Amino acid sequence: MANHYALITGASQGFGKSMALEFAKRNINLLLVALPNSKLWALSWFIKKNFQVRTLCLELDLSLKDSCYIIDDFIRDNALQIKYLVNNAGILSRGFFEDMDDAFIVRQIKVNVLAPTLLTKLLLDNLKKTSPSAILNVSSMAAFFSLQKKQVYGATKAYLLSFSKSLRKELKKDNISVTTVCPGGLNTTTRLCYQNRILGLLPRKSSLNPEEAAVIAIDAMMKRKNVIIPGLINKFFMLLDKLLPEFVKDILTKREIKKI
Ligand SMILES: NC(=O)c1ccc[n+]([C@@H]2O[C@H](COP(=O)([O-])OP(=O)(O)OC[C@H]3O[C@@H](n4cnc5c(N)ncnc54)[C@H](OP(=O)(O)O)[C@@H]3O)[C@@H](O)[C@H]2O)c1
Repeated sequence: MANHYALITGASQGFGKSMALEFAKRNINLLLVALPNSKLWALSWFIKKNFQVRTLCLELDLSLKDSCYIIDDFIRDNALQIKYLVNNAGILSRGFFEDMDDAFIVRQIKVNVLAPTLLTKLLLDNLKKTSPSAILNVSSMAAFFSLQKKQVYGATKAYLLSFSKSLRKELKKDNISVTTVCPGGLNTTTRLCYQNRILGLLPRKSSLNPEEAAVIAIDAMMKRKNVIIPGLINKFFMLLDKLLPEFVKDILTKREIKKI
């Protein structure tokens, strides 16, 4: 068993959990991070029982700055070699800006923006030692659009996309690839499954199960791709975005957002 690890944040459920299982299927050891009292230990136990990989867990709140330093210390203390860094943890939201709680906004920006940036910085030397190595940042299709009710969330994901694309250029010399995955709707939580069902035919058909998206994202990372949008219909949406005038897009997206 190689001593290389994939570090996945937000691995306890949803997309992160699916990616953890996909890495395990590919015989890659795991360091999993999620909030305290999540289902992380149960997942770790399941993986240990069913796959020939080592699995380590850290229960940390990534909205606290110290958490990234604790992860880095843990990696150093245990001499772990991180070959894949997956910045997946994220706080999703929908709602008008004026109705949003200010403490929630700060927390969302810390988890979606600050944590992946700081973690990447702290792990750079480790990733250089294991090169060719890879970073997979989980953004969203919301990064490309200016959507009502998704202003802060969309902006955090646009940050991650921009950060990743620039960093990719810088890290080429170190043989570290940076891939950004921008999913559309994922059927992760019960609430999202329901929301994705009540949308129009195209958005409904475009939402993917996290297991399918995980295979696409990890394949793309292994192939050292730049930006990846999982799903054919989502790629079609991106094309429409380039072709349609802004006012038509506004009408279409307003109609969908109203249903939520
Ligand atoms: N679902 C979608 O439709 C969709 C679409 C596009 C992009 N994405 C992106 O995909 C990623 C995963 O989304 P998901 O739908 O799988 O979300 P999810 O089911 O809510 O899972 C989020 C994960 O992040 C962890 N997390 C949240 N806050 C954290 C914190 N403060 N500290 C540490 N871990 C924290 C959660 O841990 P706990 O289990 O402990 O809460 C959980 O493991 C996110 O970055 C999201 O923006 C999702």
